Amino acid sequence: MCGIVGAIAERNISPILLEGLKRLEYRGYDSAGVAVLDAQGQLKRLRRNGKVAELDQALRVNGLGGRLGIAHTRWATHGAPSERNAHPHFSGDGLAVVHNGIIENHEALRRELAALGYVFTSDTDTEVIVHLLHHKLSTLGDLTAALKAAIPELHGAYGLAVVSAAQPDRLLAARSGSPLVIGLGLGENFLASDQLALRQVTDRFVYLEEGDIAEIRRDSLQIWNLAGEAVQRETVQYHEGAEAADKGEYRHFMLKEIHEQPRVVRRTLEGRLGDGQVLVEAFGPGAAELFARVRNVQIVACGTSYHAGMVARYWLEELAGVPCQVEVASEFRYRKVAVQPDSLFVSISQSGETADTLAALRNARDAGYLASLAICNVAISSLVRESDLTLLTQAGPEIGVASTKAFTTQLVALMLLTLSLGQARATLDRGVEAELVSELRCLPTRLGEALAMDAVIEQVAEFFADKHHTLFLGRGAQYPVAMEGALKLKEISYIHAEAYPAGELKHGPLALVDSDMPVVTVAPNNELVEKLKSNLQEVRARGGELIVFADVRAGLENGEGIRLVNMPHISDALAPILYTIPLQLLSYHVAVFKGTDVDQPRNLAKSVTVE
Ligand code: G6P
Repeated sequence: MCGIVGAIAERNISPILLEGLKRLEYRGYDSAGVAVLDAQGQLKRLRRNGKVAELDQALRVNGLGGRLGIAHTRWATHGAPSERNAHPHFSGDGLAVVHNGIIENHEALRRELAALGYVFTSDTDTEVIVHLLHHKLSTLGDLTAALKAAIPELHGAYGLAVVSAAQPDRLLAARSGSPLVIGLGLGENFLASDQLALRQVTDRFVYLEEGDIAEIRRDSLQIWNLAGEAVQRETVQYHEGAEAADKGEYRHFMLKEIHEQPRVVRRTLEGRLGDGQVLVEAFGPGAAELFARVRNVQIVACGTSYHAGMVARYWLEELAGVPCQVEVASEFRYRKVAVQPDSLFVSISQSGETADTLAALRNARDAGYLASLAICNVAISSLVRESDLTLLTQAGPEIGVASTKAFTTQLVALMLLTLSLGQARATLDRGVEAELVSELRCLPTRLGEALAMDAVIEQVAEFFADKHHTLFLGRGAQYPVAMEGALKLKEISYIHAEAYPAGELKHGPLALVDSDMPVVTVAPNNELVEKLKSNLQEVRARGGELIVFADVRAGLENGEGIRLVNMPHISDALAPILYTIPLQLLSYHVAVFKGTDVDQPRNLAKSVTVE
């Protein structure tokens, strides 16, 4: 969840490290730090509590520069956000480490190292790594050998970068449970926890695999696998997403990403739709035969991705006739699951590195599932690597912590899965499939129409700015859309928001409704709309203020206490994708009115790679 950047070069690498940190800041932003080997061969450190901008400011004043260094932006797990807990951590004055992940046996190691005379200056789990390494180095004399000797003693998850003043010819890295990528340059090499950090300096990358240790020199790279054997890892040329680190004309990444949705949805559909049908092979060779055997689907995910799975359950059962269960990964991974015969395990993740989702996939491996399928936005992610089948959402890098385009492209991918399963199992009428395929082709245009309502939604948002609580209501597949709407509002505006299936209103939440508690409702024009109208009356009768996003044909009208936003007409099946857009815009504008940090909301991080 934190960000790592490292560099070894002939030029001053401080600006490269800092630019990398800025690009990774969405991963964690409690505090930041850098360690650089200066011209006198001294390892110098600068750390600041708060955002990378604070560190940037300090670096300008301090002028710290050099040709070898590591840097980090932190999302606190062990030890509160503070300068003393910020990375890099030192042992003595010549050895520095930055770390992503959690060392689970840090207490035992801390005791052992303290007994050896090491003095701890932070509350972090990371500090044990650097002292352990120092201890190994004192007997082995070589940094690479010391790292290899220290690694087996570390239990937990880590992505590590190490530098030592005594061996200025190398930058070391180790990966277990937390991704790391090496960026290849000409006579210079780089390291980061995400290639996005290094797009400024290279487009050639080598991704470390689980258990890898790497010795990165200016002009060479050596990697050893978990078994200690020297290995070659493929070099990947990266072309896409160059625009991602730039907000362009937009005020926030989130707004930019909301507006990218028509384009990325179109990209997610590209090459996956045939003449009146979905191309099942898009899921990989042999997918059609495999899908024909599927009798159940188990979906596992976290956060926004979980909400996408909740929508898919309605689709899979209604359109493809496949029983489907959906569960949050943090629960699924720790319980004994009774696996139905011929079940497909589906994980959904933007990053493909979420710790709970990965653990759930790993547990599922021997549980008797037919196969595993990852719906993921990152091609080179652990989730994709470890799943049997993959469907990539083509959202491009998502920087705003609150997920937007990743969600809608996940929904598109899940609709493709629904149609593919229906087709392969012969449970979906061919005419219905053809109709949905043609509607999917029009979806980017419909999304564009929803985005054009931005100004109207901004006006509605103004009404929320002084509110503290909200209810979101939906029925059927719009219930998870309401959940996602509530999550967005919570995440970025810090307004308490809860979602309910509209029919549950009178079983409790109605007690909360008064003129200070706006109720947001999504109401497409389906057979549930009449029932929803009664629920809306229940709210109005208690003086509640309603904000209703409804199909132009739903027959709802503006009135006292009802703010109606008319939505373009769309089929019931695709309505969850379309109705997500106004809820994203609503949260965005409320957050802007409230003046919160839209792209980096407090206490959160983009990619939760720790448990
Ligand atoms: C974090 C992010 C959410 C995201 C969730 C799951 O909580 O802030 O936006 O939905 O992780 O992440 P994933 O990458 O697995 O979709």
